[in-house]
Amino acid sequence: MTTGATRTAGVIGWPVRHSRSPQLHSHWLARYGVDGAYVPLAVPPDMLPTAVRGLSALGFAGVNVTVPHKEAALELADTVDPTAARIGAANLLVVGDDGGIAASNTDGFGFLAHLRDTVAAWSPADRPAVVIGAGGSSRAILVALADAGVPEIRLVNRTVSRAEQLAQNLGGPLRIQDWANRAEALEDVSLIVNTTTQGMAGQEPLDLPLETAPVDAVVYDIVYVPLETPLLRAARARGHPVVDGLGMLLHQARPSFAAWFGIDPVVDEALRIAVLADRG
Ligand code: ATR
Repeated sequence: MTTGATRTAGVIGWPVRHSRSPQLHSHWLARYGVDGAYVPLAVPPDMLPTAVRGLSALGFAGVNVTVPHKEAALELADTVDPTAARIGAANLLVVGDDGGIAASNTDGFGFLAHLRDTVAAWSPADRPAVVIGAGGSSRAILVALADAGVPEIRLVNRTVSRAEQLAQNLGGPLRIQDWANRAEALEDVSLIVNTTTQGMAGQEPLDLPLETAPVDAVVYDIVYVPLETPLLRAARARGHPVVDGLGMLLHQARPSFAAWFGIDPVVDEALRIAVLADRG
C-alpha cells in the first residue's frame, strides 16, 4: 500500500530480476512500519545517465546500483565518498535535499560487518589475510581489509595481470601470489576469502586445497547460492570457522536503508528467511 507521502527507493540493474534487494528492503519497510517502497528498475546501459538524472525529478530518496552499472554510476554522481572513489564503483546513490546525487559503496562495510557478527574472535591486525579473485567484489573487500588494519593481504588470481593491476591501483599491504603457489599463500593466515564465482551453483568448485592453512583461519565465501559451497563444506570438515556470503548481502543493505529511511535496521534470521524465500 503506497500513499501520497510514500518515500521511494529502488535498485537499478540490467538485468535486475536476479536482485534480492527488493525482498530485503521490503521486509525492513514492513518490519519498521515505514511508509516507503523499494522497486526493481531495469535500466539498459545507454539509459543510465537519463535514469540517474531523473531520480530527483521523480522524488526518489535514492537507489542501489548493481551489475553492470556500478562503475558508471560513480561517474554520474555529483559527489563521491572516498571509499567508493578508491573502489572505483558505487552501489548506493542518495538524492540530497538540493537534488544532488551522492555516491558511496557499502560492499566493504557489509563484508566486515558480517565477518565480525559471525566470528567475534577474528582480529584484523593479528596475521595476514588471503583473498582469492581480482574482480569487482574483490576490490571492495581489499579496501575494507586494508582499512581494518590487516598487515598483509595476499592477493591470488588465476590471471595474475589482473591482480597486479589491482595492487598497483590500491597499494597498501597488498602482495601478489601466483595461482600455482596458492597453497603456500595460505600459510599463517587468519582469514581466507573467496571472491571468485567458483563454487556458485552451476560452476566448478574453487580449486583451493586447505591443508596448508592454520585450522583457526576463518574461511569466508562470498558466494551465497548455494549457502554452503564445496569450499565451506571442506573448511567446516577441517574445523575452520566459516562465514557464508548471504550475510554480506544483508549487511551491505543497512547503510542504504539508513540513508533513505532514517533507521539502521537489524540483520536477523527473519530477514535471512525473507530473502531466501522462493529463490534457489
Ligand atoms: P565480480 O565482479 O563478481 O567479482 P568478475 O569481475 O567477473 O566478478 O570476477 C570473477 C573472478 O572470478 C575473477 O577473479 C576471475 O579470475 P580471472 O581474473 O582469472 O578471470 C575468477 N574466476 C572465474 N572463473 C575462474 C576459474 N575457473 N578459476 C579461477 N578463478 C576464476
